[in-house]
Amino acid sequence: MPSDGRSVEGVDARRAALQMLDAVLRRGQTLEAAGARATNLVPVDRALASAIAGETLRRLPDLDALIDSATRQRLPDDSKARTVLRLALAQKIGLGTPDHALVATALPLVDGGPRRLVHGVLGTLLRRGLPAMDSCTLPEAVEERWRAAWGDEVVLAARRLIARRPPLDLTFAKPDSAAIFAESHGGLSLAAGHLRLGSSNVADLPGFAQGEWWVQDLAASLPARLIPSQAEAVLDLCAAPGGKTMQLVAAGHRVTSVDSSKSRLGRLRENLDRTHLSAELITADALLWKPKRQYDAILLDAPCSATGTYRRHPEVLYRARPRIIADNAALQARLLERAAQWTKPGGALVYSVCSLEPQEGEDQVKAFVAANPAFELQPPVAGDLPPFVPSGGPGWVRVLPGLLEPEGGLDGFFIARLVRRT
Ligand SMILES: C[S@@+](CC[C@H](N)C(=O)[O-])C[C@H]1O[C@@H](n2cnc3c(N)ncnc32)[C@H](O)[C@@H]1O
Repeated sequence: MPSDGRSVEGVDARRAALQMLDAVLRRGQTLEAAGARATNLVPVDRALASAIAGETLRRLPDLDALIDSATRQRLPDDSKARTVLRLALAQKIGLGTPDHALVATALPLVDGGPRRLVHGVLGTLLRRGLPAMDSCTLPEAVEERWRAAWGDEVVLAARRLIARRPPLDLTFAKPDSAAIFAESHGGLSLAAGHLRLGSSNVADLPGFAQGEWWVQDLAASLPARLIPSQAEAVLDLCAAPGGKTMQLVAAGHRVTSVDSSKSRLGRLRENLDRTHLSAELITADALLWKPKRQYDAILLDAPCSATGTYRRHPEVLYRARPRIIADNAALQARLLERAAQWTKPGGALVYSVCSLEPQEGEDQVKAFVAANPAFELQPPVAGDLPPFVPSGGPGWVRVLPGLLEPEGGLDGFFIARLVRRT
């Protein structure tokens, strides 16, 4: 603190980032939930704190290696000194914060503690010069898991992709509007009704208030594209905040959307209002709820470890421990069994997860088909999905890191369309 008692500008945001990191790493919270607690900060500082915590999580193993290279004393993983150093280095590498600001905002966080140590390590590393880090080592357990499931190339692609800011994907309610938007504002269209932009402030883009489009990772837009166009009544199970509901309604289906989270369903309602689309919304636990009818098609975008969203939500790399993955897989199996009963004979059940774990994708669907002979996989046919999606294979869609990498990449996803024969 300066001698006149005022706190150094920007320290509050760093202190909040420190608390967010602690909430994620020690208490398993999401960054969003941890950020929402920082109610003492003005929005710009809260955004800065989230950005710093996010950059730190993206690069944690490499930041730790740097710290360890500059001190003979091994700092415990959860020590304040290590956390403050991680935050400072992440700001330099990920956000380009100037050295003097790093030091001035880091040291007050260790007042009354290992101030000299932190100052010394930071000084050594800054004098040495920090690497660009255009590829970030992932946590060892994640690299091992993904290497075993998908191979080295996929791990290397994920390392490169997590170091880049993901692009902004928009889905347009009317595919023609995407072309009109692109004429005046540019953007790359990789699928019908899709436009990819560099990161921008969403609310400033034209058409937002009018509800012409919504933000949706391109991979997340694929499951709804597998719902057969002739299906009239469609159940969107686990629907909030509603990107897929909006796609289904915009495509002309009559949609019932179910989600157990009242607050997330509230966001779905706002999204529908903004886009002038309508659906029947039901707040219910799908493990207890029973519909009054069967549906022509069901989209089950199941709760999952969300490891496919590692670029925007790097905390998933730390939260998704084997136990969490196994618990999610057990819940998905129960949800699939229920959705199966509600699918009309001849109807389609599309199952998707934004996960890179085979337990939640391939294994789940193999077990479902083995236990439910009335269902068979129906692979996408020409025209169902955009041409960049890998075809062939066992009949499902697996989106891995590396796909469309030069264009900015995609979230990891698994999608399967199952058809009920009888
Ligand atoms: C992957 S998210 C859905 C994203 C959504 N489909 C979209 O496109 O915006 C999973 C959702 O499942 C909901 N959920 C979790 N368990 C549930 C349950 N037992 N019954 C109903 N919904 C559940 C969560 O509240 C969450 O909104």
